[in-house]
Amino acid sequence: MTYKALYKSWQDNPDAFWMKIAENVDWFEKPSKALFDEKAPLYEWFVDGKTNTCWNAVDRHVKAGRGDQTAIIYDSPITQTKQKISYADLQTRVASLAGALRNKGVEKGDRVLIYMPMVPETIEAMLACARLGAIHSVVFGGFASNELAVRIDDAQPKCIIAASCGIEPGRVVHYKPLLDNALGLAAQQPEFCVILQREQEVAKLEEGRDEDWHEFQYGVAPADCVPVEGNHPAYILYTSGTTGQPKGVVRATGGHLVALNWTMKNIYDVDSGDIFWAASDVGWVVGHSYICYAPLIHGNTTVVFEGKPVGTPDAGTFWRMIEEYKIKCLFTAPTAFRAIKREDPKGEEVEKYDLSSLKSLFLAGERADPDTIEWAQSQLNVPVIDHWWQTETGYAIAANPMGIEKLPVKIGSPAVPMPGYDVQILDEGGHPLPAGKLGAIAIKLPLPPGTLPTLWNAEDRFKSSYLQQFPGFYETGDAGLVDEDGYLYIMARTDDVINVAGHRLSTGAMEEVLAAHPDVAECAVIGVTDALKGQLPLGFLCLNSGVHRDHADVVAEVIKLVREKIGPVAAFKLAVVVNRLPKTRSGKILRGTMVKIADNKAFKAPATIDDPAILDEIKAALQSLGYANN
Ligand code: COA
Ligand code: AMP
Repeated sequence: MTYKALYKSWQDNPDAFWMKIAENVDWFEKPSKALFDEKAPLYEWFVDGKTNTCWNAVDRHVKAGRGDQTAIIYDSPITQTKQKISYADLQTRVASLAGALRNKGVEKGDRVLIYMPMVPETIEAMLACARLGAIHSVVFGGFASNELAVRIDDAQPKCIIAASCGIEPGRVVHYKPLLDNALGLAAQQPEFCVILQREQEVAKLEEGRDEDWHEFQYGVAPADCVPVEGNHPAYILYTSGTTGQPKGVVRATGGHLVALNWTMKNIYDVDSGDIFWAASDVGWVVGHSYICYAPLIHGNTTVVFEGKPVGTPDAGTFWRMIEEYKIKCLFTAPTAFRAIKREDPKGEEVEKYDLSSLKSLFLAGERADPDTIEWAQSQLNVPVIDHWWQTETGYAIAANPMGIEKLPVKIGSPAVPMPGYDVQILDEGGHPLPAGKLGAIAIKLPLPPGTLPTLWNAEDRFKSSYLQQFPGFYETGDAGLVDEDGYLYIMARTDDVINVAGHRLSTGAMEEVLAAHPDVAECAVIGVTDALKGQLPLGFLCLNSGVHRDHADVVAEVIKLVREKIGPVAAFKLAVVVNRLPKTRSGKILRGTMVKIADNKAFKAPATIDDPAILDEIKAALQSLGYANN
């Protein structure tokens, strides 16, 4: 079937389309229909079906006689560790952890927060929650205590599962002290914590609260899979919005299983048994969907890689992995390839390895720049596929569906909408724009199965953030256009979200931290273009009158503050003191204009600007940091 025929088959009868696809996962009770629209504009899928994610990701493969197949490859160049876990072993390990959690009272619907590095136990913890119908919320290790505390207070977990430490090149990340600190800040406290002690740092456990990962499971009866309804939340994943309060994206069980399973063959063109590697982190949506769930649900072998594209030990690590494990499909963020290209522009490392197993490279998480795509194409000699999606959707909105039809690649475009997504470009008034015109990218409701039904404990925020601007549509927060052939082009965010090394960050959250500094009267954070990380945050600070401190000291303090409050992942290292911020007469800070000045792009000061002379001062400040040089 061609892509067009498939897309049309969905358009003609969406319910039949999804019900057919739903047959490829196991149900304890089959759903009577796909879409449940009684609560529109909030939509749900497969509500009256009963299933279990862990059953589909683990047990059903063992039952089908594939227990000996490797489920997880763990490769950690940072700790010099390699390990393979079969589906049968995974079942034993997950059932044991789930049994121990159940013993301590964790039940269907309880939240479990997971704060762990890239080790297989993190996947086991996620699956153990799924086995019980408990709702996990994984927090990325690069976030600091304060961010962790915010998520603890919002999710109110009964239990927290953490590791003693994570390991970044050259430094140990002290997860347990960070967790203890977060619990000191949080109003909500879990009933207990489970700590995986790593040999690189053994943490002090608190009597009565902290359980050792292994002792806790010792002698405990394994737990079976608990059937849950199709709309039962599988997990909550917090993502950056425009404020310091992150959005808790909810993923419902049934749609998640059905949609992710479908993507593995149809988008990534892998068959059960093939080795699939998403080089990301379980703390991000890519890690949830494509390190943990989709490959396992589909019966692939997934890869947990604790390392970086460069420096662990060199720019050949990715190629070593592909050769060693015969990886068929690699998925990563363009920034990883920019890092490799910078280190090894001629691809000398590439030549050292046999990459014949690799059939495609998929990129997502940020705009894939043409240079990076062309470099990857020429080095790897496989299709390089850009695809576009968000934490909210959980899988690709637009892609080149390699398992359906290998469409021509247009560099700069993540190709075409996937079935389920009616993507439209709208003007400010919500009217559809013709091909070639830039506008807000919106998706006609309902969103397909597997996408967010709501935000955790924040239905009103869900409606106001995504559904209010364009009634009848989901607002993606991205701006772009569609060409005559129906290919999408994603150009920029329409809000204050920036993308640093493929990590989604909120400039608003950083502004909240800067504003809390006692000497800062006013501030603005913008995202400036960076050759390696795509964007970098840059802060402007206006100091309180009467403050006559050395500017360098204040700058150093705010940089430290962002690292402490948000975490190293914010990569906030650029800030400058200015007298005033450019604003409109109504007081709106002209962040967009400042970005254009920094990036040497043509700009026109808005007619409503309060004082155009301030822009010269902004330019000079940016020049002092090495920007706005043309
Ligand atoms: N735990 C603790 N700290 C972490 C972390 C984690 N899991 N991940 C990153 N950090 C830290 C880094 O050590 C770095 O700290 P530093 O300021 O002390 O150097 C900081 O957060 C910024 O990290 P990052 O922006 O990722 O830079 P990096 O130099 O560590 O790595 C890349 C750069 C390009 C190699 C890396 O970002 C990468 O591989 N990104 C692409 C893949 C990806 O995960 N994308 C996400 C979605 S697909
Ligand atoms: P996240 O929720 O972290 O996955 O970030 C989602 C955002 O990243 C999107 O809204 C886009 O702004 C950006 N993004 C993701 N994939 C792409 C892509 N292929 N091209 C351009 N931008 C992308």
